[in-house]
Amino acid sequence: MLKISGLSIISLFAHVGAFYYDEKKINCYFGSWAVVRTEQPLELELIDPQLCTHLSCVHFDVASDGTLEAYKNPNDDNLVASKRAMTLKSKNPQLKVIAVVGGPNTNFIAIATNRTKQAIFKYTTLRVLTKYGFDGLDLFWPSLGVATEKEMKSIAKFLISMKYGMKAFNLTLGASLNGEVNDIQSWSKMPNIYLNYELDYINVMAYNFSTTIYHAPLYGNTNNTVENSMQVLSQNLVSASARLLLGVAFIGQAYQVSKGGYGRSNVVTLNARSFKRYVRYLDMCTEEQTNDIYYADEFGATFIKSRLSWTSYESVKTVVMKAEYAQELGLGGIAIWLLDDDDFLGRCGQRYPLLRAIHKTMNGPKDYDKL
Ligand SMILES: *[C@@H]1O[C@H](CO)[C@@H](O)[C@H](O)[C@H]1NC(C)=O
Ligand SMILES: *[C@@H]1O[C@H](CO)[C@@H](O)[C@H](O)[C@H]1NC(C)=O
Ligand SMILES: *[C@@H]1O[C@H](CO)[C@@H](O)[C@H](O)[C@H]1NC(C)=O
Ligand SMILES: *[C@@H]1O[C@H](CO)[C@@H](O)[C@H](O)[C@H]1NC(C)=O
Repeated sequence: MLKISGLSIISLFAHVGAFYYDEKKINCYFGSWAVVRTEQPLELELIDPQLCTHLSCVHFDVASDGTLEAYKNPNDDNLVASKRAMTLKSKNPQLKVIAVVGGPNTNFIAIATNRTKQAIFKYTTLRVLTKYGFDGLDLFWPSLGVATEKEMKSIAKFLISMKYGMKAFNLTLGASLNGEVNDIQSWSKMPNIYLNYELDYINVMAYNFSTTIYHAPLYGNTNNTVENSMQVLSQNLVSASARLLLGVAFIGQAYQVSKGGYGRSNVVTLNARSFKRYVRYLDMCTEEQTNDIYYADEFGATFIKSRLSWTSYESVKTVVMKAEYAQELGLGGIAIWLLDDDDFLGRCGQRYPLLRAIHKTMNGPKDYDKL
């Protein structure tokens, strides 16, 4: 008797666990360049395979005729890196490995509006995805730009066609869109129903904002904030919240402090002389050890100021705030850009401090001492 009930408890937990992971996604993007490089490579095998629900390989390129480059080249870096991500499935069978297709040079509008290109794109991506055992496709389509109404209709049809193609092979279809209000507004001109129903999830890249000195403030009186973006998204019903993944980038923006120093306001002002550069948390974590960390209450953002530079960046505190915010909004989860920008080397302690903090916020405590 006791043994039987013991068994059923185990199977109940197994079921709940699977459901849980299905519900809240932690979509981890990684750069294939980081996996294949010889100096300080990203060793995917060292990731706790329970920390991400999705491993999304950036960026599969597309030729101008619509062919997925990896179709022509079996040694494509993205294929090499993705195969290594797939080895983690033996430790976590729920893990999904996704091909992120499209980069800065991909013209999806040209593909969506030309039947030949569209057919080539669909055929070559499906061939590659099924041949190598991917779980899905992520259309990396940051900005819609100035698409005409006619083009919008073609794009909608393209998405439907892609969705059915993917579905036939049990593959998921996601998209990555810019999170700045301007871009969301252009996407929301799409007939609602298409984005809402054709995409399994949307990564909202709500970071790297161009109009604020904080790279991705959660809230505050400035043109672009994460809250603003999510509000515009939900007002325009671009997608049901459960399909939206809040993008969190493990980067920061550093400004050179000009001659006058910080001045009375204690904050550098954006001016032509203040040159901006992008920094990774991997480098910021060592800065944290030698500088004071400031928290801007009115923006929900952290920054470090040193004599020569002022840097706003994503810290453990702010990623936890963003994960909590995503939970409150009932979003589908978090999309992390990029694993290779976290402290994947364990320079400042345990590996992947930001990823761990997000996972813990969304899933509760766990054995965090494993790696
Ligand atoms: C459509 O794409 C094909 C393949 O790239 C190209 O040869 C053809 O000229 C394009 N058609 C139009 C109308 O642009
Ligand atoms: C589709 O994939 C899911 C997991 O991704 C799997 O459980 C299911 O059996 C698959 N269905 C088919 C028809 O292959
Ligand atoms: C941030 O924006 C700059 C300039 O547009 C770009 O070069 C950089 O790749 C972006 N970074 C991320 C993480 O999106
Ligand atoms: C915010 O947007 C308004 C109107 O588009 C513009 O006038 C203002 O300069 C912007 N502020 C910042 C900080 O970019």
